[in-house]
Amino acid sequence: MLCIRNSEKCLLWVRVLSNEVYIIGAGETKFGELWNKSLRNLAVEAGLKAIEDAGIYSRDVDAIYGANSLAGVINQQENIGALIADFSGLSADGIPSLRIESSTASGGAALRDAYLSIKSGEYDVVVVGGVEKMTDIHGNDILEKSSSILDREWEAFFGATPAAMAALIARKYMHDFNVEKEALSMFSVNDHLNGSKNPDAQFRNKLTIQQAMNATAVADPLNMMDCSPLSDGAAALVLASESYTKKNNREGIRILSSAVAEDYLAVGSRKSIYTLNSTKLAVEKAFRKAQIKRSDISFMEVHDSFSIYGLLELEDLGFAEKGKAKDLVYDEIKLDGSIPVNPSGGLKAKGDPYGAVGVGQAVDAYKQLMGKAGDNQIKDAGYALIHNMAGTGSSSVIHILGE
Ligand code: COA
Repeated sequence: MLCIRNSEKCLLWVRVLSNEVYIIGAGETKFGELWNKSLRNLAVEAGLKAIEDAGIYSRDVDAIYGANSLAGVINQQENIGALIADFSGLSADGIPSLRIESSTASGGAALRDAYLSIKSGEYDVVVVGGVEKMTDIHGNDILEKSSSILDREWEAFFGATPAAMAALIARKYMHDFNVEKEALSMFSVNDHLNGSKNPDAQFRNKLTIQQAMNATAVADPLNMMDCSPLSDGAAALVLASESYTKKNNREGIRILSSAVAEDYLAVGSRKSIYTLNSTKLAVEKAFRKAQIKRSDISFMEVHDSFSIYGLLELEDLGFAEKGKAKDLVYDEIKLDGSIPVNPSGGLKAKGDPYGAVGVGQAVDAYKQLMGKAGDNQIKDAGYALIHNMAGTGSSSVIHILGE
């Protein structure tokens, strides 16, 4: 609301539609096996870092959107919105705090909902968080729980896990397009190289192509180095309206567009098992709204929970023809390549705390665009595309960020 005033009092309140939404602060915990930190510790640590980075006070916050995928089944904790508000000391102020769940795309979905809430003019300042705590349970227990993001009746019930589904897709893709295993492994080599320079990454070791190709099998043809790990971690952002950002002289990164699309939940229902239709649909919407071209993108953060998805995403995001991503994975996706991918280390090296991933991708993109990405800084980074995907591709959320 805008106040038209004479010297002392408001004569008229006018509702002004907020046009632009900015990220004005970001923070995250380290990703990894964080046994000394609970779900709530992680969420609050990331949230406070973002709030401090934005230079705001709790009284400025209009709402909280918290992303989480599996706390109910892994940590026996539901009601995450209330938990975050309570443990952050915000309950007494009555600030609305919602949990957003969309499997491994929960973070992107929360970012989108927060963006829309400001875009609509409802709020001025919103904190978006994402948190997941996955390493407190082990073995078959975590495998079963983490597989609940699949179709339980048609996939998981028959023993399928996310890795098994990715392996089926990889096998057919490699067969139909004559793609060698080396191309998949190169995706992980690039992630680990970038992750080695990210202090928040779970794995900071570089991988040789031999190490990547010869690791222990998980679900043939995928081995351990084709799989993201199961991780603990949290990330948070502060989003603000254009009027708040300008009035308070904040620096920020603009969200040019936000888009989401769905596909069938069960992979077997899809027309092509190696086409991520939700990604294809969402990216077209995202570019249409952002009014920029693919060639304008300086770098991407993509949801490579398994190396095969990294290749499919390069294709379905429109950066390579189907079957041709293998031509990009050797040089083009490197930090100094034509389209740098996952400067953060991606899910493979930075880590994969399900509900926190999409928010973490935005934290990394924000740092890049603000010129604060340290050893991984991409020169003259102008526009970033972030792609957050649910499970095997049932949903994709895309954001394009820029200055
Ligand atoms: N990449 C590299 N190292 C990994 C790793 C991975 N993906 N997963 C585990 N490790 C490391 C651990 O850090 C640990 O190292 P340490 O001995 O030095 O401490 C070691 O391997 C053993 O870890 P553990 O947790 O016992 O591994 P695991 O065999 O139980 O699990 C996977 C390994 C690959 C099966 C597991 O990470 C996994 O299921 N990943 C897929 C996650 C998933 O389904 N995501 C779905 C998104 S849709």
